[in-house]
Amino acid sequence: MSLFNRAEQALKTNFRQAAGVGTPPRLEKAMQHAVFNGGARIRPQLCLAVATACGDDVPELTDAAATALELMHCASLVHDDMPAFDNADFRRGKPTVHKAFSEPLALLTGDGLIVMAYQVLLQSGTRHPERLIALMGNLTAGVGIPNGIVAGQAWECETTADLAKYQRSKTGALFVSATCAGAIASGSSPTPWAPLGAFLGEAYQVADDIRDVLGDAASLGKPAGQDTINERPSSAQALGLDGAVQHFDALIAKAGASIPDCACRDMLRQLVLSESERLVPKSMCNQFRKRSAKSQAIKPKKSRTLQGATSNKTAL
Ligand code: IPE
Ligand code: IPE
Ligand code: MG
Ligand code: MG
Repeated sequence: MSLFNRAEQALKTNFRQAAGVGTPPRLEKAMQHAVFNGGARIRPQLCLAVATACGDDVPELTDAAATALELMHCASLVHDDMPAFDNADFRRGKPTVHKAFSEPLALLTGDGLIVMAYQVLLQSGTRHPERLIALMGNLTAGVGIPNGIVAGQAWECETTADLAKYQRSKTGALFVSATCAGAIASGSSPTPWAPLGAFLGEAYQVADDIRDVLGDAASLGKPAGQDTINERPSSAQALGLDGAVQHFDALIAKAGASIPDCACRDMLRQLVLSESERLVPKSMCNQFRKRSAKSQAIKPKKSRTLQGATSNKTAL
């Protein structure tokens, strides 16, 4: 079974078990809408891949850890899209939860998914209490304060923030949790796997910033140009597009090089490379460079360079 299919299957099974019977029907529908709507499932796939590299001796615990990571991620997206944050109407090509179900239900959907993530871990980890406690701590570090998603989102409410710290908390921390969870669920040390999560997570947010500028709503499945509209700190704004793409390539190279020596090294390298091409396709960058070069040749005074295309915002 592919990593994607295993992640999807684990989510379905664990969601069904955790939801139980008697949940208010509109809330349950909203929670399903938030989770089963075409996500790329990269975080659970990373967890599963690292677990495979570490022996994966308790697959049901690995599956629960992978599910918990994706539930947390989905919860963060539901809240991120709400009017109080990014006010986005579409996510993964479908109406966001608050658009489809109302703001109160979106708030509760996020809450419900966060609690469900811990519930799924609890249900699967009772026979391995040491691993369970470590998995809970690991997940908490990825989503809470001082350096997880909650902290990352909260940097948007400050007047100044460090771009790298903001991105590491908002996105990188859950990637670190993802690689570490695969090791912990298999009874291995998470330490050697943290750099892979950190480099890939940072690359992911840089890619998201690049795509926010170069992509369109149809291909992204969510509104484009949001960082400028919402005045969010972004790599494209801070480094320029050329700089952001170079930074992305460097991070992907570091992610590949950080993979510990193991039997699954080639599989993990392949996963990193295929994600890199999926996130920032070479064709997308080449098209933009061509367009940019062409417009410079035609209108040298007014045209913007690739570097300058997004540098009109105030840096952090
Ligand atoms: C989007 O994450 C939000 C970021 C943290 C960059 P993904 O790009 O993994 O989104 P899905 O899960 O595939 O929708
Ligand atoms: C979302 O960041 C990261 C979360 C922690 C939810 P963004 O706001 O930059 O991501 P998109 O573009 O909405 O997916
Ligand atoms: Mg946001
Ligand atoms: Mg957003």
